[in-house]
Amino acid sequence: MKKNILYLALICVVPAILYILSLEVVIPIPSDESHMNLTEEIQCSPCHGEGKEHARKETHPPKDLCFKCHQQEND
Ligand code: HEC
Ligand code: HEC
Repeated sequence: MKKNILYLALICVVPAILYILSLEVVIPIPSDESHMNLTEEIQCSPCHGEGKEHARKETHPPKDLCFKCHQQEND
């Protein structure tokens, strides 16, 4: 009996976690020339860093873990 409850809980929790994670993914990284072969977050700052040509908006979430939210379109 106890085992069944655990199993049920697992079935409910796994999709919930996946759903929450999927919400974090926003605008995909375009798959154009500027974004080819980018594997590290520091590579973003020359273009998207503060005061740079394509700086993010002021409303942009502050975190610097770009890939957590933005992923390449053709994964
Ligand atoms: C060589 C310069 C360059 C580099 C490096 C670069 N980008 Fe970009 N990025 C651009 C340009 C240009 C655009 C399109 C212009 C715009 O929409 O402001 C763009 C657009 C984007 C967009 C879509 C914006 C929209 O409105 O649709 C995202 C998301 C993005 N970049 C994320 C990243 C991430 C994450 C990295 C690092 C892995 C990165 N970029 C590295 C130049 C660059
Ligand atoms: C916590 C999630 C999250 C992280 C981490 C994140 N972004 Fe974003 N990004 C977003 C959201 C949400 C938007 C849409 C913002 C809006 O419409 O105001 C966005 C929009 C953008 C845009 C489009 C222009 C703009 O300001 O709206 C660019 C370019 C971009 N992000 C680049 C980056 C780069 C580069 C990094 C890493 C330094 C990064 N993002 C990290 C969530 C994130």
